[in-house]
Amino acid sequence: MSEHIKKVYSFYAWIYDAFFGKIFEHGRYVAFNMMDVKPNETILEVGVGTGLSLPLYPKEAHVTGIDISQEMLDKAEAKKEYYGLFNLDLYNMDASSMTFADNTFDKVIAAHVITVVPDPLKTLNEIKRVCKEDGEIFILNYTGCNNRVISRFEEFISPVRDKMGLGKHFDLDELLRNANLSIACERRVNFLDMCRLVKCKNTLVVK
Ligand SMILES: C[S@@+](CC[C@H](N)C(=O)[O-])C[C@H]1O[C@@H](n2cnc3c(N)ncnc32)[C@H](O)[C@@H]1O
Repeated sequence: MSEHIKKVYSFYAWIYDAFFGKIFEHGRYVAFNMMDVKPNETILEVGVGTGLSLPLYPKEAHVTGIDISQEMLDKAEAKKEYYGLFNLDLYNMDASSMTFADNTFDKVIAAHVITVVPDPLKTLNEIKRVCKEDGEIFILNYTGCNNRVISRFEEFISPVRDKMGLGKHFDLDELLRNANLSIACERRVNFLDMCRLVKCKNTLVVK
């Protein structure tokens, strides 16, 4: 499965910014504001992709980005050089088994990633592990709009979206419940409010 995702995103890397840059721009800014990053905080972006949000972070914060696709990371690396982001480290790493120590990051964000990974709960528990206790976890994801007809259609085409690496239909509330996370703050973002952005306080990992 991860091999499939790597293949898909090695293709998307070349068109990602042109296509998703504008579509997800609103959510990126709202997420950044919600994160309220302070100087010296340690931030992890899981599935950082081409690094569209990296230039937003203050230079005084320590930012780490991981992604499973080297081609996406190469684009993020180019932004690092272009914007002089010397506070940024990028790693090729699988979000479901990260090599960071427990309790490492003050804030972790997964934007448009949690539906793309094969095992969302395992990935979320891994995010909890590397996030400091009482740290903050932000999840931004396409969850479909409130219109029932469109929502049914989305469920119907979910297997196709999944194959295309664009994420499968999922229940964010159920995932958060299973990970023992509760929502501290929430916003609907992007076109037709189709994406949910949630902020959760980290709690102990449920194995
Ligand atoms: C839809 S893109 C989102 C990129 C970025 N977060 C954004 O908002 O523009 C999904 C990203 O997740 C990455 N990804 C998928 N599975 C992953 C995994 N298991 N570990 C790390 N990254 C993964 C993909 O390579 C891709 O870059």
